[in-house]
Amino acid sequence: MAAEGMIGIVLAGGLGSRMSPLTKVTNKHLLPVYDKPMIYYPIQTLVRAGVRDILLVTGGNSAGDFLKLLGNGKAFGLEHLDYVYQEGEGGIAAALSLARYYAEGRQMAVVLGDNIIEDDIGPYVEAFQRQGRGAKILLKEVEDPHRFGVAELEGDRVVSIEEKPKEPKSSYAVTGVYLYDDHVFSIVDRLVPSGRGELEITDVNNDYIQRGEMTFDFLEGWWTDAGTFESLLRATLLVARREGAPLERMHHLLASQ
Ligand code: DAU
Repeated sequence: MAAEGMIGIVLAGGLGSRMSPLTKVTNKHLLPVYDKPMIYYPIQTLVRAGVRDILLVTGGNSAGDFLKLLGNGKAFGLEHLDYVYQEGEGGIAAALSLARYYAEGRQMAVVLGDNIIEDDIGPYVEAFQRQGRGAKILLKEVEDPHRFGVAELEGDRVVSIEEKPKEPKSSYAVTGVYLYDDHVFSIVDRLVPSGRGELEITDVNNDYIQRGEMTFDFLEGWWTDAGTFESLLRATLLVARREGAPLERMHHLLASQ
């Protein structure tokens, strides 16, 4: 079966402060994206890829509401769903380190809780399982690379990643899907906080690159984060279009005002 033995990790910690006041009383990942709470989408991404063993790292406001919403994952056809809690906003790599107890000795598919992906990532997960060790990232060409981790490519190699560069070296964003072996935890152990006081996932990825153990693929379908007001609206529109919502009618209603 696809993704056998793999653990899926959804990172939905942090405080979502960029989206205040929406996140003042609830958690960013519980906000609606069209007809579902945001957190549904990264879980669905893993389930669709054949991952059955999923750990959710939560944090911030209303963390208990994730239990109320998701329970043991029955709505996704899962037999169980595990949870851990991240205190504060120590960064994506800090959130990932909380998965060590569950993920040690296994390969993992990590998805950021605010990433929404059209593609079935199953083929990339299988390719990573065949790769056996190291890491794999998924890239997507975007118009606004300065908002993301940006990959510098040379032929079929990724040579570096820069986090939110002012002058991006390419238009390839590093999406929030990361495939890692369990060496990732010793890499995180050696990280130091960045200028914004966080343990950066980009530093983890650059470590794999320097050791020659990083591969990449390109996502084919659309991809978006939903962690800013604008990208949340974009995510809602992309999902609404996929679900067949009458967007032309809404456009017409707006134009007639
Ligand atoms: O969306 C892809 C981008 O995500 C990548 O291109 C960047 O390289 C990566 O750093 C990240 O950038 P953001 O600045 O958008 O990450 P943000 O702080 O918004 O966090 C994204 C998700 O990660 C968030 O929805 C939950 C999780 N997270 C984040 C932090 C800071 C945690 O679980 N714990 C945290 O402490």
